[in-house]
Amino acid sequence: MKKNPVIPYALIAGLGILLVIVVSVVGLNQQEAIQDEENGEQEEQQQQDGESEGGGETAANGEEIYQSNCASCHGSDLSGGVGPDLTSVGSDYSKEELKEIIAEGFPPNMPGGIVKGEEADAVAQWLSEQK
Ligand code: HEC
Repeated sequence: MKKNPVIPYALIAGLGILLVIVVSVVGLNQQEAIQDEENGEQEEQQQQDGESEGGGETAANGEEIYQSNCASCHGSDLSGGVGPDLTSVGSDYSKEELKEIIAEGFPPNMPGGIVKGEEADAVAQWLSEQK
């Protein structure tokens, strides 16, 4: 009797199906553990974000400070909103002038002192580079 040539393939297919079942059972068991891990990571990241917003860092990031203090009026892409377009503000004002605007406000509708000190410095620096 001739050997049936399909048998080796059928065996391999059978093994494959078995493997899929094993992997999915193991996977189900691990899913919970993975989800726990992911939650932990997210919490960690939120903590880190909180720290950088706290302004406790020495190297203040002008763009981040802009996004959290100025973007509500000037747009997250500087294109303006309640306040005017700032996309090329660096060619209208120097860093020093920008610091003054941030400190004094821009009458009549922009209040002064939204950010101060090192943060004001960093935003002014970043905006003066927007030309
Ligand atoms: C409450 C909304 C508001 C916020 C927040 C705000 N601005 Fe303004 N800003 C304005 C308005 C409105 C004007 C235009 C002056 C006016 O009409 O009163 C202006 C004007 C300016 C100008 C002058 C633009 C020009 O073309 O002459 C600069 C520069 C500026 N803002 C920078 C900033 C920076 C930097 C921040 C964040 C620290 C900021 N603004 C936050 C509303 C705001």
